[in-house]
Amino acid sequence: MKVIGIVASHATESRVTMILNEGMEREVENESLVLVENRNGGKILAVCRGGIGINDALRATIYSPGVAYAKAGRQPSTAKEFFGFNLVVIGDVSRGRIEQNKRIIAPTSPVKLFEEHEDPFSYFGPYSLKIGHYKDVVSWKVPVREEYIPFHIGVFGVTGSGKSFFCRYELIPLLRKAGYDVLVFDWKGSDYAPYFDGKISMRDIELDDEAIISYLCSKAGNFGSGKMADTMRAYLEEALSDGEWKSYPPEGAKEVLYSKIKRAIEEDNRDKQGNITQWGRIYVRRLEKGFKRITLDDFETVLGKMGPEQIVERLRAQHVLVIDMSLGSKEQKLSVFLSVARYLKDLMEKKNRLNVALLIDEAPQYCPYSPRDLEEETTEMITSLCALGRTYGLSMILLSQGIAGEIGINAAVRRNLNTLFIGRIHPLDLDEASKLFAMSGVEPENLLRLPEGHFYFVGKMNPSPIPLLLSFQIREDEKVGRSAGA
Ligand SMILES: Nc1ncnc2c1ncn2[C@@H]1O[C@H](COP(=O)(O)OP(=O)(O)O)[C@@H](O)[C@H]1O
Ligand SMILES: [Mg+2]
Repeated sequence: MKVIGIVASHATESRVTMILNEGMEREVENESLVLVENRNGGKILAVCRGGIGINDALRATIYSPGVAYAKAGRQPSTAKEFFGFNLVVIGDVSRGRIEQNKRIIAPTSPVKLFEEHEDPFSYFGPYSLKIGHYKDVVSWKVPVREEYIPFHIGVFGVTGSGKSFFCRYELIPLLRKAGYDVLVFDWKGSDYAPYFDGKISMRDIELDDEAIISYLCSKAGNFGSGKMADTMRAYLEEALSDGEWKSYPPEGAKEVLYSKIKRAIEEDNRDKQGNITQWGRIYVRRLEKGFKRITLDDFETVLGKMGPEQIVERLRAQHVLVIDMSLGSKEQKLSVFLSVARYLKDLMEKKNRLNVALLIDEAPQYCPYSPRDLEEETTEMITSLCALGRTYGLSMILLSQGIAGEIGINAAVRRNLNTLFIGRIHPLDLDEASKLFAMSGVEPENLLRLPEGHFYFVGKMNPSPIPLLLSFQIREDEKVGRSAGA
């Protein structure tokens, strides 16, 4: 380790300013990790946050010879120049683990910088699980407190900040190592589905009748509008109700449904002589037109046979299972989620331990700031899964562009996320970020400028009491492939 400076006056147990040795201002950066050898006892691990350069001959508020030089475009003296850095204390590591530092840090105590071959995290104690690496040092893997995985995880950052990549490269492998089977709800079908062997498509999944009717009607252009649409919807509902059509392949199913509805229309619309009325003929024409618009592919979608039980069975066999939701409407996607969630909730209520993680990308679609219609049900469901999950080993991982407010996720859900990974945030989230990072020395404005793939690790799973900046490596070929496609 390299001595880079000493502790300045007015140090406390948790906050220190250091004065840098000549030239060291070129080596120390924001977020550099250092060790303070406290003259009052103990080794204090700390992180540099907020540097300052001082030259009393160059105060910008009073006139002085230095200012005169500067004004004239000449080089003022650097004799009175020095540099400092604020240190935020992580803890006392003199006993090989992180403990709260209780002693005043003595001014003049030496401060040493970790070099690349010296892993500061070796002082944290033995941790079998690690995630990513510290800032830009690839060999410093960041330790994780495994026992807090079922206390739920939030991954936040604007689009393109690297949330999905972080989950694919780091979180999912970590959850696997911790013994969790991971079920991914891939809203767009492009972030996870192409990269995992275990996947099922929306069309393989069994939908309830309500979802099937909505889907087919929307594909048929609702068979018209107003009263016509309502009447046709009712006919469709009636024809679907006995489930007979489900025993045919798509083509047969389409035919069976069509002739069933046609027969029903004709029976309902006869005059006294037994001839079909004019309205009857109009209905049949609408039916014909509407059915032309429903493709066999659409029928394939609603003929899925996989129930939540089989989905969980597949998950147990493959360990990571991605549900590709790209085909469905929003209502369909939420219905699929609800049916799996209900099943898992039921298992937990019967006191089964699950060891399952549910990864929900685009979480505001499920539990927005102010939920409406089906969203109310999904929001409530996620909240109760969180509550039960802590006891029965179900970990919820929610990804979102925003943290709070209109762009964020529902407050009741957010309160359940005890570990957060926060990447580049949206300016609307500055307030929320200030609260989350209070006293940590991280300037919320820095969060607006984080490069892609950088996240602050905050909360229970982090052994450090203060947030740490981490990053992770991706395989170059994938990065190229992705940006070429975008
Ligand atoms: N660790 C990383 N290193 C380098 N580039 C990254 C890293 N993580 C993500 N990226 C880049 O950022 C882009 C956006 O990542 P993505 O995970 O899709 O963002 P999000 O899900 O937040 O919208 C990726 O296409 C990739 O090129
Ligand atoms: Mg994404």
